[in-house]
Amino acid sequence: MNKQIVLDLRETVRTVPGWPIEGVLFRDLTTLMKDPHALRMSCDILFERYKEKKIDKVVGIDARGFVFGAVLAYKLGVGFVPVRKKGKLPYETLEKSYDLEYGSGTLEVHRDAISAGDKVVVVDDLIATGGTVSATVGLVRELGGEVIECSFLIELPDLKGREKLVGCPVFAVMEFD
Ligand code: PRP
Ligand code: ADE
Repeated sequence: MNKQIVLDLRETVRTVPGWPIEGVLFRDLTTLMKDPHALRMSCDILFERYKEKKIDKVVGIDARGFVFGAVLAYKLGVGFVPVRKKGKLPYETLEKSYDLEYGSGTLEVHRDAISAGDKVVVVDDLIATGGTVSATVGLVRELGGEVIECSFLIELPDLKGREKLVGCPVFAVMEFD
């Protein structure tokens, strides 16, 4: 990764203190997404990382993981699988509950979305406590998929999210306190 590009990308992330609850420093990526150069650079970094890895599917996490995950799938020429908040998927699903920095939730995936042996990269905008992504990895593995890596634009290392992902490599473009 080019250090200057990463420094430039950091400048496009907006920090909103006290949202959605007091004490949280919310790292808002909508400002990166609306900047055409930053959006392109972010997606190119992910593509360069996975283009030779023989990925079969990109799994994107609801909702901001859909933006980067779908572009990566398009660029790799593979399918995109959405992991959604409970109650949004119409067909038979597998579900898992999880905790995060400011709440809890349940994620679902269609049971026929991943085939046994599929090599998968999981994409989200940000890893904080790691609850969301570890639930997602659990869903992918239950369906027989092999998670090659979990990939993020931002990691909040103080929240030790990667410790929840035992046996699963983690990549993040940027780190924030
Ligand atoms: C945010 C973010 C990750 C998750 C990270 O999503 O996009 O999915 O939190 O937190 P964790 O590592 O502590 O689990 P959020 O649940 O706010 O949903 P959204 O993408 O729909 O806004
Ligand atoms: N998801 C969980 N914690 C977050 C934070 N601090 N900023 C943005 N998204 C988050």
